[in-house]
Amino acid sequence: MLSQAENELLTRVEGNAPMGQMFRRYWLPMVLSEEIEPDGAPAAIRVLGQELVAFRDTQGRVGVLNAGCPHRLSSLVLGRNEECGIRCVYHGWKFDVDGNCMDMPTEPDDRGFKDRLKAVAYPTREAGGMVWAYLGPRELEPPFPAFPWTAYPSNQVGVAKSGYRSNYLQAIEGAIDSAHSWYLHSGSSRDWDKRFEVSSDASPRLEAEDTPYGFRYAAIRVPNVDPETTKYARVTIFNVPSSSTIPPPLDPNLPAHTSIFVPMDDENTMLFDVYHSQNGTPVDPLALRRRLKVEPGVDLDEDGFFRGGRKNRWNQDRAAMKTGSYTGIAGFQNQDTAAVDSMGAISDRTQEHLGQSDVAIIRMRRRMAEAVKMFQAGRTPPGLDGSTDYSSIRSAQGVIPKDMPWQRILDLATTSR
Ligand code: FES
Ligand SMILES: [Fe+2]
Repeated sequence: MLSQAENELLTRVEGNAPMGQMFRRYWLPMVLSEEIEPDGAPAAIRVLGQELVAFRDTQGRVGVLNAGCPHRLSSLVLGRNEECGIRCVYHGWKFDVDGNCMDMPTEPDDRGFKDRLKAVAYPTREAGGMVWAYLGPRELEPPFPAFPWTAYPSNQVGVAKSGYRSNYLQAIEGAIDSAHSWYLHSGSSRDWDKRFEVSSDASPRLEAEDTPYGFRYAAIRVPNVDPETTKYARVTIFNVPSSSTIPPPLDPNLPAHTSIFVPMDDENTMLFDVYHSQNGTPVDPLALRRRLKVEPGVDLDEDGFFRGGRKNRWNQDRAAMKTGSYTGIAGFQNQDTAAVDSMGAISDRTQEHLGQSDVAIIRMRRRMAEAVKMFQAGRTPPGLDGSTDYSSIRSAQGVIPKDMPWQRILDLATTSR
């Protein structure tokens, strides 16, 4: 449970809200690389309450600019993408990926206005099948968070992108909530049978510890075999401000999974769900999206949100619930979205009742509150000072001796690939 003021501090991201300003200090995914082709249609992005445009120029370079044309703010999302720049359709002013004005056909060219004017353009990177941008002050640009999978061959990473009609914080809470998968996703995970073979304990004991980049926690269960001498630990990583890496599937041929939540505004969130190979097995993004039922244009609408929603109860099938489906909701991600969006656009955390299984959620809120207070005090928020080695960040699971610290599983995982 949080006070109303704490809830506001943690959830509000638009305008000058401190949390939104803190998010700007981190590199954030904007669009999938595949969504923008050279000289193709620009992509409209809404992030932290701001409208941006992403485009790929004739030479393949990527630009992320404020959507409003610097002339009179007509949207560059409508722009013509041609000859190494984006041209506003209103009066034809044209900008390159760095925001330089290339052409200003409605102005006499002897005034130097073209050379002085710049569109607001942000630093970009492409990694893990995504275009990332840094939206904060230039002089504070941090190192790029080089998660291990950002260095994998492109056929070993697949991203499923889908939107939540709710605030980012409650979406993250779903990603670090080990207890829910036993219920909400029962029968939906390909790893489910294997996991159940290891342990049928539905009430894990949670242990969390802070790290410089956020925190990590273990969900510790009683294993089915050797319960006297061993324990089954699943370790999840949380990176401030909004990504989590859950334990990889026990089957090494199935990809591991990192979720990055990007607040679009106070009441909408875009999830970039990154599936990365554990052992070099290729990840087929289309097959992945079909299996997860997050296929653009099929399961998702033109804005990347599920076609279901509150008005049709997220396509819940009551008849299926009588014949084996636990939720009656098809698709792993749609189950999460239904549970999270049904809380309301911004969950009223003054009304909740947290239990033992919510240890990680409590820790995440505390770390985020600490982070935003560090930011407000002029200190560097977690994970940005260059001391965090993102390439070593992994999660893990396994059965280990009862007296072994669960952190040891991570040491073993770090050397496994
Ligand atoms: S508003 Fe874009 S050129 Fe005039
Ligand atoms: Fe889930």
